[in-house]
Amino acid sequence: MAQIIDGKKISAEIKEELKAKTAELKQKGIEGTLAVIQVGKDPASSVYVRNKKKACEYIGIGSQSYELPEETTQEELLDLIADLNQDKEVNGILVQLPVPAHIDEKKIINAISPQKDVDGFHPESVGSLTIGQQGFVSCTPAGIIELLKRSGVEIDGKNCVIVGRSNIVGKPMALLMLRENATVTITHSHTKNLKEICQNADILIVAVGKKEFITGDYIKQGAVVIDVGIHRDENNKLFGDVKYEEASQKASLITPVPGGVGPMTIAMLMHNCVESMMK
Ligand code: GUN
Repeated sequence: MAQIIDGKKISAEIKEELKAKTAELKQKGIEGTLAVIQVGKDPASSVYVRNKKKACEYIGIGSQSYELPEETTQEELLDLIADLNQDKEVNGILVQLPVPAHIDEKKIINAISPQKDVDGFHPESVGSLTIGQQGFVSCTPAGIIELLKRSGVEIDGKNCVIVGRSNIVGKPMALLMLRENATVTITHSHTKNLKEICQNADILIVAVGKKEFITGDYIKQGAVVIDVGIHRDENNKLFGDVKYEEASQKASLITPVPGGVGPMTIAMLMHNCVESMMK
């Protein structure tokens, strides 16, 4: 039976460390502000945005909230970002995704100053990660590295298989695991023999967006399994991309859903905000 990687506990530890850090910075007269922009009223986005603002408050970072109507034009949003880029008080800018369909998400991501890109989505941030330069790292994959390290998982030389190749998780995850000297395989919807490839993983990271897609027979005995998925059934019960009951019979360590990867994303956003304060 697998041991659980407790993301709630680890994220709480990180938040305590960050709270101490902001207190120390405050003594030196350094304070930070995160600008959070939401366009429209998507209920899931509203929950995320509220939690981000709450985390700022807890850690000791100021937050500015921009709740813009659904019909906001791309131009208006770009103008706001341009103002925030110039604003000396603001050191982090976050536009909650998805934005409405009439706004080009790429243009928005590109408009945020890389110095304030606490989501780590700007091409310059991703490029820096690719060639090993300083820059903000996407929060969910950065959180997974913390989960692994703080659970004592050795990454160096291990076979890591990533299921999913999104810009937010799969691709930066691969770069981070490579930076930690893992041998990395990225798989996706066109991959042949997915099950066999997964069976070879010492560390299996699943971000495929399909409920309980990875069953026990994909998993090598003793593997470490990280589940990035989040799905709700009709009774509001949460599920991951991994069939937990089966996987936990094979894995040595596993993240649950909820309480695994999820809480780490905001903790790492706060980490990036604190980094931004120190620039
Ligand atoms: N929507 C879903 N996840 C995220 C995230 O990490 N950052 C932003 N900005 N939007 C998201």
